[in-house]
Amino acid sequence: MNYPNSSILPFIALSLLLLSSWLPCRATSHSSSLVDNFLRCLSNRSAPLLESVYTRTNPSFESVLQARIRNRRFLTYQTPKPVAIVAPKHVSHVQATVVCAKDNGLQIRIRSGGHDFEGLSYTSNITFLVLDMFNLQSIKVDVNNEVAYVQAGVTLGELYYKIAYESGVHAFPAGICTTLGVGGHFTGGGYGNMMRKYGLSVDNVLDVEVVDITGNILNRTTMGEDLFWAIRGGGGESFAVIVAWKIKLVRVPEKVTVFNVPFTLEQGATDVAFKWQQVAPKLDENLFIRLQSSVVNGSILINFIGFFLEESDKLIPLMNQTFPELNLTKTDCIETSWIESVLYWAGFPTGTSVVALLNTTHGTQYYTKIKSDYVKTVISKQDLDTVWKLLIDLANSTSASVSMNWNPYGGKMSQIPESDTPFPHRSGNLFLIQYVVYWTEEGSNVTNHNIDRVRYMHYQMSPFVSKMPREAFLNYRDNDIGSTASDRTNIGDALIYGPKYFKDNFQRLMMVKAKVDPDNFFKNEQSIPPMIK
Ligand SMILES: Cc1cc2nc3c(=O)[nH]c(=O)nc-3n(C[C@H](O)[C@H](O)[C@H](O)COP(=O)(O)OP(=O)(O)OC[C@H]3O[C@@H](n4cnc5c(N)ncnc54)[C@H](O)[C@@H]3O)c2cc1C
Ligand SMILES: *[C@@H]1O[C@H](CO)[C@@H](O)[C@H](O)[C@H]1NC(C)=O
Ligand SMILES: *[C@@H]1O[C@H](CO)[C@@H](O)[C@H](O)[C@H]1NC(C)=O
Ligand SMILES: *[C@@H]1O[C@H](CO)[C@@H](O)[C@H](O)[C@H]1NC(C)=O
Ligand SMILES: *[C@@H]1O[C@H](CO)[C@@H](O)[C@H](O)[C@H]1NC(C)=O
Ligand SMILES: *[C@@H]1O[C@H](CO)[C@@H](O)[C@H](O)[C@H]1NC(C)=O
Ligand SMILES: *[C@@H]1O[C@H](CO)[C@@H](O)[C@H](O)[C@H]1NC(C)=O
Ligand SMILES: *[C@@H]1O[C@H](CO)[C@@H](O)[C@H](O)[C@H]1NC(C)=O
Ligand SMILES: *[C@@H]1O[C@H](CO)[C@@H](O)[C@H](O)[C@H]1NC(C)=O
Ligand SMILES: *[C@@H]1O[C@H](CO)[C@@H](O)[C@H](O)[C@H]1NC(C)=O
Repeated sequence: MNYPNSSILPFIALSLLLLSSWLPCRATSHSSSLVDNFLRCLSNRSAPLLESVYTRTNPSFESVLQARIRNRRFLTYQTPKPVAIVAPKHVSHVQATVVCAKDNGLQIRIRSGGHDFEGLSYTSNITFLVLDMFNLQSIKVDVNNEVAYVQAGVTLGELYYKIAYESGVHAFPAGICTTLGVGGHFTGGGYGNMMRKYGLSVDNVLDVEVVDITGNILNRTTMGEDLFWAIRGGGGESFAVIVAWKIKLVRVPEKVTVFNVPFTLEQGATDVAFKWQQVAPKLDENLFIRLQSSVVNGSILINFIGFFLEESDKLIPLMNQTFPELNLTKTDCIETSWIESVLYWAGFPTGTSVVALLNTTHGTQYYTKIKSDYVKTVISKQDLDTVWKLLIDLANSTSASVSMNWNPYGGKMSQIPESDTPFPHRSGNLFLIQYVVYWTEEGSNVTNHNIDRVRYMHYQMSPFVSKMPREAFLNYRDNDIGSTASDRTNIGDALIYGPKYFKDNFQRLMMVKAKVDPDNFFKNEQSIPPMIK
């Protein structure tokens, strides 16, 4: 069985050697005096911090910058680079960086895992520095109280490994790809295959430690419920630097079940997909079945990839009753520990040791463009045929690999009110669509062409997806849905992307922003503008 990579991109590192011939841009005299002042300010506040600062002349600058660039679209000669990277080893370094950047008029971009689909954590069109969290690596798991403390630079793989090391019956609901950083991933929502049972990562956050615009360290009590609400799905980059999360662990059985059942069109994929839309969002909340549609040999291949929080003996009769079209049999099922199911879902080869989760290296092998949609009404069989044709056309008109992941909602996701967190896509959604296009061919023409084609598919999908607003998922960052230049705040553009990502919660986000960062220091092309009074 050909296991298509469920986490969209295989984890193969591109040798940094290939990239080392790229020359760093020269800093302008304007920015170098800015940087000098910034560095002087840092050394005044916290002398040992200078060891964690990489300016462009530092021999490690390029490798540190590239280590957490995931998308080759933002690893080109033209991509603007920071004047410096600051990699704090202590919260006081974060405080000093915020204060000194603000005092010197330097924009900061905050980076944890570097997976932002538009590269907003490490690029900007104006002079900027990267506040890179990778040195903040602490994880403390307290099994007795079923909580954990995890710093922003930790990856999901490291967190999952540590939880499983401490307990065979605990887990945390978060993303599939194990190199995601908990800093950016949680603050944008964070979903994975336990979302129908336990909700999003942010639904399981108990407390947080941030550094605010004045350089103060705040926690839930001292920041108040408004800011605590905003950073659980609204994107921390608009509000403060997240230093660490306190999270609630969830319970998992000693054995879970996973499966991956492929169907071609000849084998009746369309009928099964039609039924999937009706049952997957309503099934037992212990069961999550992703539909992955890809183009293989010029035709559609659909994989139904499952995760069940019980043993397979319970799954077979359940499926026979509710979703017999899938024809799931015992031989399709793999029973495994939760931590091994993580490896399976992330696409590691069978037999890979869990130690692989501690490998935080990820490649920058692919150029990618991602878009998202929400579906609220079942797509008819006839329209499914149209959708498959659009996907085939997309594959046929580009040099890219293309696929769609359909992720079922329902269960716990429907029980949480829309205003509980900034993430608004709760009850009423059948599934989230992720459009994935990735390629290796170089050149801006290829890039522009492939991006145009996926935009066209997204446009053609309009009849089948949410409307007014056409919703989108913040963690699937997409600058096409409205973005501003990084040196200004255009409330007009924000009024386009804001309601798509946040629906009615956008208003409250702008109010919180006006309160905690009225001068809009924490910003990027899709940040929350302060509410104008
Ligand atoms: C291969 C791949 C698989 C993915 N799979 C999933 C998935 O299964 N589920 C899911 O929900 N999403 C998924 N995503 C999307 C992912 O959740 C987002 O890209 C997320 O923002 C990544 O967080 P990061 O820390 O790795 O990225 P970064 O690029 O470091 O950060 C993303 C954003 O958060 C901000 N930010 C980062 N750290 C901080 C901080 N400490 N304080 C304040 N702001 C901060 C950044 O400035 C940026 O705007 C996937 C992405 C990729 C590339
Ligand atoms: C870590 O992962 C990268 C990317 O997949 C791989 O190239 C490298 O060999 C891995 N390192 C180890 C020690 O497994
Ligand atoms: C550093 O501290 C000294 C002494 O407190 C002060 O005079 C100077 O202005 C400071 N420099 C910067 C760049 O903050
Ligand atoms: C929050 O911070 C305050 C002030 O530093 C501290 O007194 C309090 O104990 C902290 N709360 C928690 C839950 O850590
Ligand atoms: C695609 O074609 C290759 C080579 O002909 C074949 O081995 C493979 O099984 C095909 N895959 C599907 C899903 O048809
Ligand atoms: C791809 O496009 C070519 C040229 O337009 C066409 O001949 C071919 O049939 C297409 N293939 C598919 C699978 O649609
Ligand atoms: C499903 O149930 C029917 C009737 O109870 C039975 O005949 C059939 O073998 C079952 N199929 C599977 C795959 O278990
Ligand atoms: C269901 O699976 C069984 C066993 O693999 C197979 O014999 C049968 O043809 C399948 N039925 C359908 C409808 O695919
Ligand atoms: C890229 O596109 C431009 C404008 O369409 C064209 O002039 C140029 O020849 C193209 N370059 C390549 C390498 O295809
Ligand atoms: C940044 O600059 C690039 C290259 O000039 C341009 O394509 C892009 O649109 C700019 N982005 C913003 C947000 O202004």
